[in-house]
Amino acid sequence: MKVLVIGGGGREHAIVWKIAQSPLVTQLFCAPGNHGMRSVAELIQIPVDDIDRLVSFAKVRGVDLTIVGPELPLSLNIVDRFRELGLRIFGPTRAAAKIETSKVFSKNLMQKYNIPTAKSEVLSLAKAYERVPEMELPIVIKVDGLAGGKGVVIAHTQAEVIAGLDQFKKMGKAANQIIIEEFLNGKEVSFFVVTDGVHACPMGSAQDHKRIFDNDLGPNTGGMGAFSPSPLITPEIEKEIMSKLIYPTLEALSKEGCPYLGVLYAGLILTKKGIYVLEFNARWGDPEAQALLPRMETDWIEVVEATLDGRLKDVKIQWKTGASTCVVLSAEGYPGNYTKGELISGLDEKRPNNIMIFHAGTKHSDEGWITEGGRVLAISALGSNISDARDQAYAAAKKIEFKGIHFRTDIGKSL
Ligand code: AMP
Ligand code: GLY
Repeated sequence: MKVLVIGGGGREHAIVWKIAQSPLVTQLFCAPGNHGMRSVAELIQIPVDDIDRLVSFAKVRGVDLTIVGPELPLSLNIVDRFRELGLRIFGPTRAAAKIETSKVFSKNLMQKYNIPTAKSEVLSLAKAYERVPEMELPIVIKVDGLAGGKGVVIAHTQAEVIAGLDQFKKMGKAANQIIIEEFLNGKEVSFFVVTDGVHACPMGSAQDHKRIFDNDLGPNTGGMGAFSPSPLITPEIEKEIMSKLIYPTLEALSKEGCPYLGVLYAGLILTKKGIYVLEFNARWGDPEAQALLPRMETDWIEVVEATLDGRLKDVKIQWKTGASTCVVLSAEGYPGNYTKGELISGLDEKRPNNIMIFHAGTKHSDEGWITEGGRVLAISALGSNISDARDQAYAAAKKIEFKGIHFRTDIGKSL
């Protein structure tokens, strides 16, 4: 089977790495991919937002199955476009992916179908400014649409609310609809299922570390590390998440005429009052995928095929025993302006099988590996438990060097 993966980050490297192990796959492409994947996939120089060229590549090269990594091509209707031509593709349609790409759609859906989520209200930007004096603090303000991680502000003072609204105003069109939301206090967990819209198979949990510095200090990033599974998600809690949050959401999406097929990622918060959905994403998390996929025993292609063929209820995904930890190495300056082109040493060393190095922002040049992005590499380790996996991931991370290297030293420490 010829498989095409769309995307080029650390998450897609983990997906490609996993798929490359499937005996069902004869040829593997990744568009645009990154140089770190070259040993397992052929890189195709088509950006993720060029849907016309992706469609024609899949057609001309006889791709049997396409798997979408990031949300951008989903929002550009890639799934419908492929299906119209009879091309097999794994991921939600643009209408179903609105659960991620429109926070207003997602909040309205959760409210209409009583899916536990923070109380919220949608306002115009002008109305939001007017309401500042009445707001109960802390408060969360969000902007609708994809905002590249800059769409959420947790404000503790009125001045912070105003600064947040000013930031949204600068985004222009994206700022037409502002969500004002109750602040929830608790532990955050990323929970994943694979679903054909009717049946859902839990794929367990991971905890992400979003801030750049240790002890959750500094600005938010795309994610600086993760561990999996989360010890907070006991089998009883998993059952509750499936019955109270996941299945009602899938039923709601079906009732609204946009059944969901693909990986669904629920960003949850476990509070004293119960479990709430903070957000849904229409894809794997990054770096959660780099922590979760190494734990998966079952062939991912078999799961994807079963999902597309409506056989998911017969599938039981098997997991390796133990746990995993993933540490992200970032470039100096990230998440702000960061340096590029620094020589990376230690990447080509031999390492044990339980250590996986996923590339996100690297390039192979004449001098060797160099940095090319903000999040450069993700070092994942499998261990007997989170603390063992963490020690092994850090031991492997310390062998890699580049000028300005930064990583958090507390991934998986506060469970
Ligand atoms: P979102 O993109 O909606 O998940 O928000 C990004 C991050 O903002 C989340 O991972 C939380 O850390 C935080 N956040 C969002 N909504 C809330 C809320 N209602 N209460 C507390 N924190 C929140
Ligand atoms: N790690 C957070 C995300 O992928 O959205």
